[in-house]
Amino acid sequence: MQDRTQDKKKLIAGNWKMNGGIEANDALVRAIVTGLRGASCLAAVCVPAPYLAQVQVLRQGSTLELGAQDVSAHAQGAYTGEVSARMLKDFGARYAIVGHSERRQYHGEGDALVADKAKAALAAGITPIVCVGETLTEREAGRTEEVVKRQLAAVIHTNGHCISEIAVAYEPVWAIGSGKTATPEMAQQVHAVLRAQLKAATAHSARVNILYGGSMNAGNAATLLAQPDIDGGLIGGASLNAADFLQIIVAASHAVA
Ligand code: PGA
Repeated sequence: MQDRTQDKKKLIAGNWKMNGGIEANDALVRAIVTGLRGASCLAAVCVPAPYLAQVQVLRQGSTLELGAQDVSAHAQGAYTGEVSARMLKDFGARYAIVGHSERRQYHGEGDALVADKAKAALAAGITPIVCVGETLTEREAGRTEEVVKRQLAAVIHTNGHCISEIAVAYEPVWAIGSGKTATPEMAQQVHAVLRAQLKAATAHSARVNILYGGSMNAGNAATLLAQPDIDGGLIGGASLNAADFLQIIVAASHAVA
């Protein structure tokens, strides 16, 4: 028997990145909330911090969950510009993305900092969506497994038994925003590696949703989500269009892996 919770719900999380505006958010979230009725997967939007309050109000009465795109590793204090996990919690956030490749690349975030951010989120009762993924150069050098395992190992090391409370997103860097998607087989292969690593770390690894991210869209979601170890998606570009995002949610609601 596989070590998985067979009826675990898939999670589709939108990552708006630095996009949005008061009017556009209003239209987008209203359309998602309306279209979400009857969906049997988990759905969330990870919005820029200034819009948390707006989206918190718009999602009221809906199953749409709210998430942030980053979180400080610190609980409070003299950290200008940072947003703490407790502040996110104050606005109803259930998720926080940590270690997105854009933060690793443009903000110099390393594995240890990402692990500390995951810890800060967990301490506030927020599920960190821990992003891992290889660059094209690393894939071509045959280093994919080594890289993603190293990135996840740091989070496991820092978070101990709490590791079953995280979500993981495998996002090959070369597939993000590029229109290039990992084939379902390529993604599944890496997801299986991550699954095994989690299984070795906790008896409750079956709880962890391992999402795929990187140009997932309405057209390719169903085949990716049909893979046995793909428990959802982290969606960038396609999450800014309600119809596309909802189509991915429908695919996740129907997927039997
Ligand atoms: P994309 O982004 O879907 O636009 O490729 C995914 C992500 O970066 O989380």
